[in-house]
Amino acid sequence: MAVTPHSAKVDELIRRLDQATAAPDDAARCRNVKQVLVEIVASGEQFLDPALLEPSPDYYARRLIHRAPGDRYTVLAMVWDVGQGTPLHDHAGIWCVECVYRGKIRVTSFSVHGGDPEKDIVQFQREAVVMAGVGEAGALIPPFEYHMIENPTDQTAVTIHVYGGERRRDEVLPRLRAGRRRRLPPPVQGAVLPGLSRQAPRVARVPK
Ligand SMILES: [Fe+2]
Repeated sequence: MAVTPHSAKVDELIRRLDQATAAPDDAARCRNVKQVLVEIVASGEQFLDPALLEPSPDYYARRLIHRAPGDRYTVLAMVWDVGQGTPLHDHAGIWCVECVYRGKIRVTSFSVHGGDPEKDIVQFQREAVVMAGVGEAGALIPPFEYHMIENPTDQTAVTIHVYGGERRRDEVLPRLRAGRRRRLPPPVQGAVLPGLSRQAPRVARVPK
């Protein structure tokens, strides 16, 4: 279901994502979606509605571009003002591909040790830190899905995210003590609405 005015390029994006997400497994879906996003953004066309690109003053903004029928996948624009970012989080077991549309972001990925974060107190270990610029994309395929995104630059950044479904909660791991985090909090129900930002905590420091 389209929820914002679409340029021809967005229509092309959706048509290609419909095909890309028809792959038989998550790895193939992510590979296909990543290729589509990279190629669409590499066109250099500024195809997102300017209303989607406005930063939100206190927290990064999440705005819906498209929700496929049956929630087969969703496409969101996220706007990262200077210094904004996420805490360490997962994606509730669904795959995701993220591509930079404007500016630069820093993505820090983590491995998990010592149990199931849904049930146990576990240890997260920082694995990789990547600065990604326009047209660069990455994929998260569960169970390797723990990461943080930040905008450490002095310019607003915008990313396009394609999820293998609709995220219905903030998958935030809020407690931090000596590098350990407790299990996930209860789900927060509610879809992301077009043109609205969603509150998210400030970035937490994670000991190495
Ligand atoms: Fe994420």
